[in-house]
Amino acid sequence: MLKDRINDLHAQVNEMSASSAEELEALRIKYLSKKGEITALFNEFRTVPNEEKRELGQLLNALRQDAEGRINALREQFEAKQAEADKLDLTRTPDPIALGTRHPLSLVREEIEDIFSRIGFTIAQGPEVEDDKHVYGMLNFAPEHPARDMQDTFFVEKEQGVQKPTDVLLRSHTSSVQTRVMTSQKPPIRVLCPGRVYRNEAISARAHCFFHQVEGLYIDKNVSFADLREALLYFSKEMFGPETKIRLRPSYFPFTEPSAEMDISCNICGGTGCSFCKGTGWVEILGCGMVDPNVLEACGIDSKEYSGYAFGMGVERITNLKYRVKDLRLFSENDVRFLHQFEAC
Ligand code: PHE
Repeated sequence: MLKDRINDLHAQVNEMSASSAEELEALRIKYLSKKGEITALFNEFRTVPNEEKRELGQLLNALRQDAEGRINALREQFEAKQAEADKLDLTRTPDPIALGTRHPLSLVREEIEDIFSRIGFTIAQGPEVEDDKHVYGMLNFAPEHPARDMQDTFFVEKEQGVQKPTDVLLRSHTSSVQTRVMTSQKPPIRVLCPGRVYRNEAISARAHCFFHQVEGLYIDKNVSFADLREALLYFSKEMFGPETKIRLRPSYFPFTEPSAEMDISCNICGGTGCSFCKGTGWVEILGCGMVDPNVLEACGIDSKEYSGYAFGMGVERITNLKYRVKDLRLFSENDVRFLHQFEAC
């Protein structure tokens, strides 16, 4: 019966939905186009007897109206969505994500590690809370050496409130890692020891109670002072540029003999003299020397068979030279305005 088919189709039309403009167009064609199902019913309608025409005509018109209405409503929905999408500027750069920055001391330490790793140095580490033996004793410090003084070294109290010096202390230099490595490894030894050290200093722009050092140690047969000089010259040129010159001045450390301090040509004025190098054209960057035979022996290495060199530099000092950080305190305050200046480094 035509009436039933109209009602069935009407039920379908009421349920109509589409998830894209293409699907919607397919529905329109299915129901309302020249060959559509509703159009087909209208064609059939012409053949129904006159007495049924009134009722069926009304049903058919209602069906067509509803189908058109529904399709138009769905189309409006899609158009509104499209307009919304058109408003999105997909070429716009996204909101920047605030990235953290590397700490300048980490940047410089890693650069030092990188430079020495290219000539065969590997990284070694030791504890920051150390004992007297590894920090001073085995490094040939005389028992009454002033470095052991409480003015220079932080001692760790064994019992709370007991002030007298104990055996346990915060290492005051990374040379303690030398003794740790020499007592646990056999030569050849070629290590770089980066780490934090502590000294009992009043905090100011030029001194801090902790800072960072990188120690180097090379032990093998026939290691000479010339090898030390060559390694340090290579380092200085890599770190501060190929024009850099070095100068070794005789010095004293209990654990090296001979000992020297090394200056580089001032990388700020190029050696002509400025306020940074106090007009001398040179700036000191590290201490070094040939490992004292007493130290080798204390660590169980035959000083007749082996020799070696050692050097130690302050990371803050190198960072100061590279990035002109005048006040040491900036390194540990973690002020983001300071740290963000190293974003691009
Ligand atoms: N440990 C020395 C210091 O802290 C530096 C140094 C290391 C000197 C190795 C010579 C050899 O000043």
